[in-house]
Amino acid sequence: MSTKIFAHRGYSAKYPENTMPAFLAAHQCGAHGIELDVQLSKDGVPVIIHDEAVNRTTNGKGLVKDMTASCLTKLNAGQRFKWLNRKAAIPTLEEVLDWLSKTNLILNIELKNSVFPYKGMEEKVIKMVHDFDLSSRIIYSSFNHDSLVKIHKIDSSAETAALYKKAMPVPWEYAKSIHASAIHPHYRNVTKELIETAQQHHIQVRAYTVNKTKLIKQLISWKIAGIITDNPCHALSCLESS
Ligand code: G3P
Ligand code: CA
Repeated sequence: MSTKIFAHRGYSAKYPENTMPAFLAAHQCGAHGIELDVQLSKDGVPVIIHDEAVNRTTNGKGLVKDMTASCLTKLNAGQRFKWLNRKAAIPTLEEVLDWLSKTNLILNIELKNSVFPYKGMEEKVIKMVHDFDLSSRIIYSSFNHDSLVKIHKIDSSAETAALYKKAMPVPWEYAKSIHASAIHPHYRNVTKELIETAQQHHIQVRAYTVNKTKLIKQLISWKIAGIITDNPCHALSCLESS
């Protein structure tokens, strides 16, 4: 099975992260999938933003959980790229799923619920995915592994992936113990042996966040299941030349 390229926060190397322009650009360059981050607004709407606060990526200030979806979606999320006159808003998950349903992309939804537990987040996200009939194209990931267990309890067919930053002794066994079908390690934890052993245990490995050419090529040669990258166009060109 060939390596799948996932656009980390969309095509975030060139477009404002976690915005529709970044997702559209990733699709246009031929990415197999998109990775994005979900948090809940004050009125319980799943919105796409990486940080718990809006300060870094938008022209606003404050915590996502203290702002309504209506306020959040009016902010300019194109600050870093000075997209001041073009639409680069914080999208809602519903908006992204609606667009995604018209493509053939895979979507990796990262639930950002390690800092704030966001009551009812898993139920809301899963219901929305079901409403759009997109379950077969969704991978749920989180650093909060209790949340992944909860997702499995709500929908035992949901594909979940354990995100982790520090090395784990036997991550494939750990993944099985929490009903995850994949591990999403920081790239520093990935070896050829890890990929091969995990695959023997039917656990997929997708590394984040891989931007350097040498490493992308190495992971492809090791037949990793997925590469999560800020620059999907570049990773795809590495894949094509492999
Ligand atoms: O899903 C992999 C990666 O997105 C996890 O780290 O901080 O970029 O969300 P972060
Ligand atoms: Ca993420």
